Amino acid sequence: MKIIIINGPNLNLLGNRENDIYGNQTFNDFFGILQEKFPQIELSQFQSNIEGELIDKIQEAGKGCEGIVLNAAAYTHTSVNIADAVRAIAIPVVEVHISNTFSREDYRHKSYVAPHAKGIVVGFGLQSYELAVQSFL
Ligand code: DQA
Repeated sequence: MKIIIINGPNLNLLGNRENDIYGNQTFNDFFGILQEKFPQIELSQFQSNIEGELIDKIQEAGKGCEGIVLNAAAYTHTSVNIADAVRAIAIPVVEVHISNTFSREDYRHKSYVAPHAKGIVVGFGLQSYELAVQSFL
């Protein structure tokens, strides 16, 4: 089974960004551990700060993968474009957030992606990704 993790803007800074909210681990370090935990899944990852690149990757994964774990970061709260890309593909998308977006600013409570996601995992730190991957098994 092929599952891709797609990360949006500023998630390349994990480990060096608002550590009180997002923790101290880099995503690459975490991803290595995740791969070891799920040897039966062909896991890949992609990160971009550019909306169009995220959309291209969602469309591409729709043809080549069995599922997407998507943390669209702030685009979650603003992007009809990314929501439309999620709607347009046939494979399941699980929306993930590291922080509990509902305990933060009001503008983070809205998700354009969530209505089109298979499910959402919010607020468990990097473990949110692990729970989302687990949901595909
Ligand atoms: C985030 C939450 C978003 O509100 C924020 O813009 C991010 C990260 C999270 O994983 O907690 O960049 O998606």
